[in-house]
Amino acid sequence: MASLASMKARKSNHLVCLMSNKGNKSILPPLSNPLGNASSDSPTMPPPTLSPPSNLAAVTSSHEDFWSDASYDSYFDLIDGFLASLESPHELEFEESGKIWCVSDLHVDCAENQEWLRQLSTQSNDAVIVAGDLCTSMKKLRAALDMLQSKFKHVFFVPGNHELWTYRGGPNSLQKFYQILKLCAEIGVHVKPTLLGGRVAVIPMYSWWCPDNTSTESLTNSQVQTQSDVEKTFDAMCMWPASVGDPENPHNSGYSRVAAFFLGLNQRALSTDFAGRDIVSFGHFLPDPCHCSTTPELASILCCPAMGKQIQKLNPCVHIFGHSHVNADVVIDGTRFIQNALGHSKDKGHINSNKVLVQAWPSQSTDYLSIGQPSESLISGRTARLTPIERKMT
Ligand SMILES: [Fe+2]
Repeated sequence: MASLASMKARKSNHLVCLMSNKGNKSILPPLSNPLGNASSDSPTMPPPTLSPPSNLAAVTSSHEDFWSDASYDSYFDLIDGFLASLESPHELEFEESGKIWCVSDLHVDCAENQEWLRQLSTQSNDAVIVAGDLCTSMKKLRAALDMLQSKFKHVFFVPGNHELWTYRGGPNSLQKFYQILKLCAEIGVHVKPTLLGGRVAVIPMYSWWCPDNTSTESLTNSQVQTQSDVEKTFDAMCMWPASVGDPENPHNSGYSRVAAFFLGLNQRALSTDFAGRDIVSFGHFLPDPCHCSTTPELASILCCPAMGKQIQKLNPCVHIFGHSHVNADVVIDGTRFIQNALGHSKDKGHINSNKVLVQAWPSQSTDYLSIGQPSESLISGRTARLTPIERKMT
């Protein structure tokens, strides 16, 4: 039997293989702190004060007051209540031959990516899962979702970190999140657990990057934490209300309660019985550090291990994620984890250079070539079957 050290070495080699679309390195979003350069787009609003409203119904009629003063529970009740109010899980019509495709990180702010989306072929019997980071602009987000809606029978979406960036005088990141959910509901994009044709359940998993892998409850109660500079400044274009984020710095996206807030939105799905159906889940962030090969400091801004624990409980046959722009296809303890990021134009040559959708369900994929034999390894104490992949030439 191979030693743990040799298994780890093998894991490292496999991950290099998985992440090596022609020998690339992990492509990360920029780490610069946008607050260092004041501009018309820089968020400069002061931290909101903590004075929880006594009546949610009353405060929601006054958005200014609600969004600046609401307590953690009020924010959570409003957004979780909105998700609960949507008619779901409900069974939608889905052809026997219907497929579910996946992609993430479309970044349609890039003209090249927008053109890719425009030229994407119509799959009118199929569904597509978009695992976050379409863009930051609400106007472009609406246009991109409309475009996807015109090409697929069903569109599933969760916001990534880029959607929750905000700007001077704009909404805070939770307000924007709420606006995005409402937009999706309005145009028929699915943001809640949904049953397709009696055979499969598609489950969005809300999350935020967080170094802590403890329980959601522990994250919620964590008032003080040690953070690296990267964790303090990454996604500083977000702005979190004091009751959810860091009371000292609304632009601190690494504050553990932020992750806890999103993870709490998954509880209803986790307590639902989807027996008899294949479960396909999706979220933006990496569910485990095993999906990236980088330093612990950088892994912390990529991963949400607490969501990884939720996924283990959900036990999907497939989980789709994005964020690191490093495409991968790996089976861990029976769950197939796929990242199929379109990526940013500045990543050119490093990511999805052939820009194809990957078939997530039924799980047998024909969209890429396996360039090596699947092999078993040990990742974070769990058995993984790693399949190095490369895109088919089109
Ligand atoms: Fe991202």
